[in-house]
Amino acid sequence: MISCPTVEKSSIRSHYELSTLFYWLLWGRHIHHGLWHGDETPAVAAQQLTDTLCELAQIERGQSVLDVGCGMGGSSIHLARQLGCAVTGVTLSQVQRTWASTTARWRGVAGSTRFLRQDAETLQIPERTFDRVWSIECTEHLFDKPEFFRNVARWLKPGGRVAICAWLAGDGLEDEDQAQLVYDVCEGFVCPSLGSFDDYRGWMEEAGLQVETTRDWTDQVAQTWEICRDRVARSKVRWLARLVDQETVLFLDRFDTILEAYRTYAMRYGCLVATKPRS
Ligand SMILES: C[S@@+](CC[C@H](N)C(=O)[O-])C[C@H]1O[C@@H](n2cnc3c(N)ncnc32)[C@H](O)[C@@H]1O
Repeated sequence: MISCPTVEKSSIRSHYELSTLFYWLLWGRHIHHGLWHGDETPAVAAQQLTDTLCELAQIERGQSVLDVGCGMGGSSIHLARQLGCAVTGVTLSQVQRTWASTTARWRGVAGSTRFLRQDAETLQIPERTFDRVWSIECTEHLFDKPEFFRNVARWLKPGGRVAICAWLAGDGLEDEDQAQLVYDVCEGFVCPSLGSFDDYRGWMEEAGLQVETTRDWTDQVAQTWEICRDRVARSKVRWLARLVDQETVLFLDRFDTILEAYRTYAMRYGCLVATKPRS
């Protein structure tokens, strides 16, 4: 695992308060990578990642889902509309909570979704509440990842599943250049740490969850950042970011860093699905 001790919870919150609009302008309603199999458009690729996780998580019609780090509600609203799920989305950001609730109302699923502005690390949820815990690109921002998976194991009903997509540290971190790249990504994208596949597997298993699926999608997601970098270069987004704050500029400037981290496999992008045993 690589840690970046300068990242604070308040900076993660303010990053999403200030940059949600930029994510939307650059990428759309999902704040996550696209998953490419061919030459799909970015919007199709982003939806493909959600759909693929949905299949791997074996989400069934009408299930109860906790969406940890729900962003603008892209996944939550999709699960409610397509599968009739009852979804609770949690985000650190008030801007995102309002955005997600308003979109859910427009899209006719206000009754089956609710969005909370809460810290997933202090969330109080009764045991055995959810059929699925879903989290795309949020665990990178958590400070105590092992404790998060212990909580997930409590929140899930027996037989329930947790499905996550995450930015991961690669395996070659004894190499100083690779470790520095991952550190720079953590700093630019406000991640207190990035764990490896093995770290995540270990945290899930220690929490009593059985890992049933892992996928390494590094090569299929990396072009997300080439597209974003080109869109920044061709638009006024960087100029707008300068008016907002220096951190948002740093975030835009780190797109090349993350591309290099994927290219050299200093970083990986992965998906893990685990089950809570029935007994
Ligand atoms: C990269 S975005 C992903 C958003 C969403 N999952 C998606 O795919 O569109 C990260 C999300 O994690 C949320 N987040 C970060 N730390 C969190 C925490 N401690 N508790 C709740 N949400 C958190 C942010 O507010 C943001 O919504």
